[in-house]
Amino acid sequence: MTRRTFLKTSVGASLIFPVSSISLLQSCKSPTSPQPDQKTPIALRMPAEISGGSLVAALNSVEIWAGQRSQIITINGNFIGSTIRVQKGDNLNLTFVNNLGEPSIIHWHGLDVPESMDGHPKYSIESGSSFQYNFPIMQRAGTYWYHAHPDKLTAKQAYLGLAGVIIVEDDEEKGLNLPSGKYDVPLFIQDKRLNSDNSINYNPDHDDIISGFLGNTVLVNGTPNAYLDVEKNLYRFRLINGSNARVYKIQFSDSRSFSVIGTDGGLLEKPEQLNSFNLSPAERVEIVVDFSGDALNSSVQLLSTAYEFDSIHRGNTYPQGMALTILDCRITTKGTSSIKIPASLVAYEKLTESSAVNTQTFILTMDHSKPSGMHMINGLVFDMNRMDIMIKQNDVEIWEIQNTGDGFHSMHIHGGQFQILERLYANPMTPVDFAWKDTVLIYPNETVRLLVRFKEYKGLYLLHCHTLEHEDDGMMLNIQVS
Ligand code: C2O
Ligand code: CU
Ligand code: CU
Repeated sequence: MTRRTFLKTSVGASLIFPVSSISLLQSCKSPTSPQPDQKTPIALRMPAEISGGSLVAALNSVEIWAGQRSQIITINGNFIGSTIRVQKGDNLNLTFVNNLGEPSIIHWHGLDVPESMDGHPKYSIESGSSFQYNFPIMQRAGTYWYHAHPDKLTAKQAYLGLAGVIIVEDDEEKGLNLPSGKYDVPLFIQDKRLNSDNSINYNPDHDDIISGFLGNTVLVNGTPNAYLDVEKNLYRFRLINGSNARVYKIQFSDSRSFSVIGTDGGLLEKPEQLNSFNLSPAERVEIVVDFSGDALNSSVQLLSTAYEFDSIHRGNTYPQGMALTILDCRITTKGTSSIKIPASLVAYEKLTESSAVNTQTFILTMDHSKPSGMHMINGLVFDMNRMDIMIKQNDVEIWEIQNTGDGFHSMHIHGGQFQILERLYANPMTPVDFAWKDTVLIYPNETVRLLVRFKEYKGLYLLHCHTLEHEDDGMMLNIQVS
């Protein structure tokens, strides 16, 4: 096997791996083991849809690539988990069954739910038991997701497959006549680090805890080498970054522009044209892309294009900023629909700086000399039983998050939402920073100021980095909403 076969890259560009990885990639396999097929395109897999029932998590041997089995986590037998489709105002009634052989619990990322339903690690359940979830859906129409959240096991379990997509719909959105049905495609994106035989496991070393566990190939909805046959029509793509640590620079291979229509907490007030944006772990961005001008039998790739990432972590085998192909869009059928992108989408309440009653500052630091607890917020490593942040329900506060280091941090809150007020030092705001958010990328040495509000519930929630290795290492604080 040569490294050439390892990654399918766009437009024939070959990808150069650092020398340190060559031996790993060329390590020999026994001659009798089946050769996994690394290049055959696979039609994008679509997880089954549910709106209730149960989610049974178990370890299973799954064929991600033809001829290769990996011991990973399935939900109801599938990798990745079922897509939960619900209407705003519905009650979500779900039983989580943990058959993993270790503690687990599920968090509903982006949904405001009561404390006991939120998947705080203190609510983890033992293997062999189940947890009954029941809560109303309060969120605006949009794309959310769920994943494991047990103490110090979140990164491993989410990586191995305990995750899935949540789609919330409402009447306001339905009135917009956006592309729907087969023209509305969730793309749940995770990078995986393949062993030489294409199997997957989760085995971060000390450097991986620092940089995050980065992979060398992308799975979309659990599909490697994914392709999607499309008509010459508008498509709504819901991009969900379910990766532990990778920040994707999303772009099409021909740099076409597209309309950004939504972010973490639902639709923008109007479509915004972009041809590239960064998508950090746990963020969602919805776009409408137009294939009507493409020639039949042509194709265009959705990529993470290469970008510079000047960090001491660039020695990582599969560094941030490496080029990766996400999805091959093949234009195979002529268009049949006459849908247009509406000029305006959905108005939303805008928080103002003048309405803020308090400011809290969070300083993100790393101390690489420690064996664990390297990643801190305000000098603190997560302690399940310590109360860290106090805020009153419905108060608007300014939360100023300062990244003092040279790595990315993707900061997330449970139980509330925020709007980005400004980015200082590094990057101007772009449309993917607009509207309601629950996760924000903080660039190296950047300070981001947020307008934060916990509207729906009092209780115990969390602020943490969604680089999941950082989270498990302790970059997480308790929030008490009173
Ligand atoms: Cu998606 Cu506590 O996280
Ligand atoms: Cu969350
Ligand atoms: Cu981090």
